[in-house]
Amino acid sequence: MAKARKRPRRKKRTKSDNEAEAAPPRHWYARPRTWIMAGIVAVLLAGGAWGLTVAITGETPEIQVYKTATCGCCGDWVDHLKRNGFAVKVKDLEHLDLIKRMGGVHESLQSCHTAFVSGYTIEGHVPADSIKRLLKEKPSARGLAVPGMPGGSPGMEGADKEPYEVLIFDDIGGAKVYARY
Ligand code: CU
Ligand code: CU
Repeated sequence: MAKARKRPRRKKRTKSDNEAEAAPPRHWYARPRTWIMAGIVAVLLAGGAWGLTVAITGETPEIQVYKTATCGCCGDWVDHLKRNGFAVKVKDLEHLDLIKRMGGVHESLQSCHTAFVSGYTIEGHVPADSIKRLLKEKPSARGLAVPGMPGGSPGMEGADKEPYEVLIFDDIGGAKVYARY
């Protein structure tokens, strides 16, 4: 006598089965966290590639210049930076006092414009060579300054040439000679 084949018992559907059907498992690309992580990785990779490009090509980082709209010599100094391979961003302001204070530029160091590059302050008509040296040597300092507006410095070519010094300064008002021109 043939044994009655036992029918496989249908599994009772549970509430969670129904839910699983209604909401199929989310794929990796549907998870916001995946995209956030991918974004972070992309930014890191891009940053690394950029750093490498800078290292290989010797390209200089972006320099942010603050000046007043009417200052012609400031514009000429910006051109000098561009000719020397700097990517320059310029912002015209009515007053630069706050910027100079932010940059730690002591009164005795002040000039017409103030710039920032890689965390350093660049005050006045500092030659591009000195800025490049600063970025290469990365000394612990607040920045470089050419006080006043000496004739013959970059951007001041119209005036009579005079010898001048690039000073390297710290946070507490100390400064020493960095270069002589
Ligand atoms: Cu000037
Ligand atoms: Cu200037």
